Amino acid sequence: MGRYLVTAGLPYSNGRLHVGHIAGCYLPADIWVRYLRLRGEEVRYVCGSDDHGVAIMLTATKEGKTPAEVAHFYNQQHQLDFKGLSIDFDVYGSTSASKFHRTASQHFFLSMLEKGLFEKRTTRQFFDEARKMFLPDRFVKGDCGFCGAVEQNGDQCESCGKLLDVDSLKNVRSTLGSEDATVPGTAGVVTVRETVHWFLDLSRFQPQVEDWLQQAQLRDSTRVYVKSLVNNGLVTRSMTRDIEWGIPLPIDDPDAKGKVLYVWFDAPIGYISNTMELMEREQASEKAEGACGEYEQWWKSKDSKIFHFIGEDNTIFHCLIWVAMLSAEGTFSLPSGVIVNQFLNIQFPDKDVEKISKSRGSAVWIGDYLQEGGDPDILRYYLTSIAPEKARTVYKPEDLIQKNNADLANVLGNFINRVLSFNQKYVGAIVPDYDPKKCDVVDHNFVNELKRTFIEATEALDNISPKHALQILMDFARSCNKYIDDKKPWSTRKTDMELTKVTLYHGIRAIYFLTITLSPFMPNKTKLVAQMLDIDLAQCNWNSAIDEFPVGKKLGEPVILFQKI
Ligand code: 2FM
Ligand code: ZN
Repeated sequence: MGRYLVTAGLPYSNGRLHVGHIAGCYLPADIWVRYLRLRGEEVRYVCGSDDHGVAIMLTATKEGKTPAEVAHFYNQQHQLDFKGLSIDFDVYGSTSASKFHRTASQHFFLSMLEKGLFEKRTTRQFFDEARKMFLPDRFVKGDCGFCGAVEQNGDQCESCGKLLDVDSLKNVRSTLGSEDATVPGTAGVVTVRETVHWFLDLSRFQPQVEDWLQQAQLRDSTRVYVKSLVNNGLVTRSMTRDIEWGIPLPIDDPDAKGKVLYVWFDAPIGYISNTMELMEREQASEKAEGACGEYEQWWKSKDSKIFHFIGEDNTIFHCLIWVAMLSAEGTFSLPSGVIVNQFLNIQFPDKDVEKISKSRGSAVWIGDYLQEGGDPDILRYYLTSIAPEKARTVYKPEDLIQKNNADLANVLGNFINRVLSFNQKYVGAIVPDYDPKKCDVVDHNFVNELKRTFIEATEALDNISPKHALQILMDFARSCNKYIDDKKPWSTRKTDMELTKVTLYHGIRAIYFLTITLSPFMPNKTKLVAQMLDIDLAQCNWNSAIDEFPVGKKLGEPVILFQKI
């Protein structure tokens, strides 16, 4: 038995969650956690909100709230959304409200400072005169000083690809707008000011990152991408910021006044501080007996494997900066794997494919989906079937309906329902006691296909491809319908009830198999099937899916599983 700590990227607490967030990391990680648990592993699934950074400060200003209020509000909203989709974390923390997070983050900073890993440097940065604040790259726009392209972001020219900075970005303006300018006559005015920051030279960690890349479980595209970053040379990055909202620098230095840790420095430490919170809670509760105890057993022990699930835009931060930070601090384990999904785009009827965007209103919000009575398992099924594991994919609302009707209602639901209703009617609420001597080649092939499906689905999940595993299982569900079509129990029952019992027995065995193996994907619907089979899913394990189902066992009442939309 192994011990797995699984995390999903901590979402920023300044906006609602949409289907792209869910497909990106929370759902695949939840499926994998459920699979590991079925296999009998000891697992904790850790998440929480990422509350710091400029974006949350700006949302707060806009909404007339404090950043802490905004963070708390969205933290609660997100928890409701996750719960509504049966994404079950063991802990959902908050980097701003945690009692462990500040100390843990400052510990990392101090440990790296003591080792002489930071360089304190004076830099020049854009300054918003209206708001009296330094502007991060993505909050300035201007013209490229190299090729003249207009309306470029502060960090890179999209036209010529050159990196831009305070010297090469011209005619700069703040993208923050001017409605809440505090100093009259300064709206949109951007100047350049000097400021001191603590820089981390990532190239010092090149050997550690390269070693890690060799061992870590990563998708091929992630490994290739991170390798290319390393080969192009790792850069020096500032780990501090000039804002008020964040973790203060824990040092007595006049230059550190009013500065906080860069949000990407403290965010991944949230995985650790949330684990600390979970362990404290477990120790205090009844669960303490079975609990693993200290957070060190998850973060510092060789027996524990850490897996981070993230979206593509978080790759650099997890595979370079976080690996460098952990290597620098030196007492925590490096992640065993970082599982990256690409972005999910969206396409509304008669429209072009577009990026999911809050400002353009092109999103399907989880809160809306649930409020309109959307079924969590149908969305889980659809998002897994189109998961952007290797490349970006497209969410199409009408595709969700089509897949519900074709795959879930017509294939899976139909198979389960036709077998269980037929059995109820002609055999009773009991697993038929059949004569194995009556099995023919079709039955043997069917059992073999079930066993082969089990091996292939297990392999896909071990490779952390829920999408592939689901495809394999649904292909089997299609074979199940074909098996019933071939065996024609509706006609054999008139001539040979013993043959009909063979068919029904195998059908029920296949339903049992699908109930267990599909439970990580659709935990609610499979619970209903478990009731129809009169079994307790909590008592089942992954390997028992291929067991024979006991003849003579009592069954529950069949109900319709999926309605066509
Ligand atoms: O991209 C995001 O939404 C970030 N808040 C993810 C942080 S992941 C981790 F490092 F906390
Ligand atoms: Zn340019």
